[in-house]
Amino acid sequence: MKLSAFILLSLISAVLPISTRADEARFFPVKGMEFGVYYYPEHWPEDQWERDIQRISKLGFHFIHCAEFAWARLEPEDGRFDFAWLDRVVDLAGKSGLKVVMCTPSPCIPAWLAIKHPEVLAMDNNGKRSHHDGGRLNGSLANPIYQKYAARIATEMAKHYGKDARISGWQIGNEPHIGCDEDYSPSAQEAFIGWLKNKYKTIESLNEAWGAAFWSFTLNDFSQLEMPSANPHAMLDFKTYTSEEIARDLIDQTRILRQHVNETQWITTNYAYYKGLPNVNPFLTRKDMDFASHTMYLTHNRMNSSGDSLAHRLGCGMELSFSTEVAKSVSGYTGIMELQPGQINWGRFNSMPLPGAVRMWIWHCFGMGERFVCTYRYRQPLYGLEQFHHGIMQTDGVSLSQGGQDYATAIGEIGEISKKLEPGAVNDFVRSTRTGFLWSNRNIIDIESYRHHQDWDTWQHIYTYYQGLKRMGVDVEFVTENDAYDPQRMPFLVVPAYQMMSMELVKKLESYASRGGHLIISTRSALKDQRGHLWEAKIQQPIWSLIGGEIEFYDHLPKERPGMVQYDGKNYPWHTWGTVVKPAPKTESWGFYDDQFYKGKSSVLHRKDGKGSVTYLGAWSDGWDMEYQILRRIYGQVIGKLPFDLPPYVFAHYREGLWVAVNYTDKVTPIPVPDSAEVILGGRNLPPAGVLVWREKK
Ligand code: GAL
Repeated sequence: MKLSAFILLSLISAVLPISTRADEARFFPVKGMEFGVYYYPEHWPEDQWERDIQRISKLGFHFIHCAEFAWARLEPEDGRFDFAWLDRVVDLAGKSGLKVVMCTPSPCIPAWLAIKHPEVLAMDNNGKRSHHDGGRLNGSLANPIYQKYAARIATEMAKHYGKDARISGWQIGNEPHIGCDEDYSPSAQEAFIGWLKNKYKTIESLNEAWGAAFWSFTLNDFSQLEMPSANPHAMLDFKTYTSEEIARDLIDQTRILRQHVNETQWITTNYAYYKGLPNVNPFLTRKDMDFASHTMYLTHNRMNSSGDSLAHRLGCGMELSFSTEVAKSVSGYTGIMELQPGQINWGRFNSMPLPGAVRMWIWHCFGMGERFVCTYRYRQPLYGLEQFHHGIMQTDGVSLSQGGQDYATAIGEIGEISKKLEPGAVNDFVRSTRTGFLWSNRNIIDIESYRHHQDWDTWQHIYTYYQGLKRMGVDVEFVTENDAYDPQRMPFLVVPAYQMMSMELVKKLESYASRGGHLIISTRSALKDQRGHLWEAKIQQPIWSLIGGEIEFYDHLPKERPGMVQYDGKNYPWHTWGTVVKPAPKTESWGFYDDQFYKGKSSVLHRKDGKGSVTYLGAWSDGWDMEYQILRRIYGQVIGKLPFDLPPYVFAHYREGLWVAVNYTDKVTPIPVPDSAEVILGGRNLPPAGVLVWREKK
């Protein structure tokens, strides 16, 4: 890219609204947090609706959430719409003082549509078409007939409910993704070819970008393209296309709603956890939707949790934190659309959450600034695929579950304590440690497609840094390459294993540090250009001047024979990735290899750049502790004494004048609350599943 174009792009991104706080206050007038619950009237006899809705209201919830899977009931036959039943539900909600979050039902294609037009269904990469089998998210988003029908039901719903004051907002579909990961149907193929033509213009440039000379992949014409499954550059494009197709579907529906709905009704979707769904990129709908909401189930035992004796009952708090901060970064605020209410049905095994765990999760959401917590679901279903999924009510529909009791407790506590919130209050520590975290689905897809060391796990690498930041009590904002990095607003920026970097990005990072920002960049970064090709240069050479040193080579070791890297007089084992670096004359060497044939050579570099700095961590320590110690040193150098040194999986968050700490470990953990502070809830020694709220002395 030419420099002039780069400057223009930077200027544009600098003025893009990252946060739309005015809308936040307009959409969510309740001080603190609203509470909601998924209610499926179509699952229950109509004579129970009133009883259920009144009870939901009595429990203190503010809204119900309806209709995301009810297409067959809303449009029982092609073009015949039936909203009368849902109108009765909205009436009952209104009478009980509840609002309604209305959803478009696009994830569940009705039988008549699948039979009349089987091409609306997606295909997997064996060419097997989905069918109407009681599953969901099986639509071929690229199919024009699917698009027409999804647009029509969204239009009809928007016309019907768009001016209704009882509807507070809209959710498009449900946890957007394609059920079979990527759609390999003929419609998708046509759309992908169109996407490629638009990107590459000529077949020659596609061949070049895909390195098609390798193993005779060369195409003479776009029409020769088969759906990719091997060439890594083609796969990267196919997955990127898929992300954009998912976003386009959401944007199309959003635009339809916008034509008919009142300005008071917000529009979002409930993004699912980003780790399992790398093709979903919540930043792509940033300009169209009001905000990104998210979903989180903590006890399925597949993700990052403490691993201690209570991990299966307290869940993966690190993932809740991460998911909230990603969603919040999209538009500056978020709400959690699905927070687990109790036992779930789809984990590796499904333990009871510890009594009080659900309450702690809700408080954790509160501490992180969520505008609402909504739970899936009010009643446990008696039939269907999720029979064993607990709800706020037990199977009789009228007795509170353990999780339901936790919700009732948290709703009461938060309602009361929210009176003490001071909207707009800012904390000096939080402001001066605000940290950007460079985020790109494409990078994750690329690096995961070829890990190179079988123990490499990109997510673990990301968590090495994310966890360290959380242990210091730092707020994280996920940023994309197109955002402006302002060192005043965001004094620290973490760039973990950012394997594909453009020269524009390298310049942007250099500019950030030279303007006073503190950049922390880790191993594997800039190995490739943004097409995923290795540079025709020495290894990682484009970042040599940024990091202040030359990269000599990288090494891998077997897990059972780790190497040692020395930092600050202490040895840390590593085995997955170690980069050997040579500092430039003015660069400090903070870490050294302590064995192997390169003993004594550097692994960690640090260079000052005026008021800013750049730290490069070339080795990834096995226990993640070296990274944490280095983060503490950098932050300590900049802001002085750090208030928190929390164990992993214990969190402290500041929200509008209040501090909230929660404990996902099995140990009672002392929290460093100043003697002068006023403890509002809980005690300074925080038990497992405990919640502590305090306020600093003014
Ligand atoms: C979510 C999904 C819900 C429900 C829930 C069960 O991922 O959005 O519809 O299936 O899982 O835990």
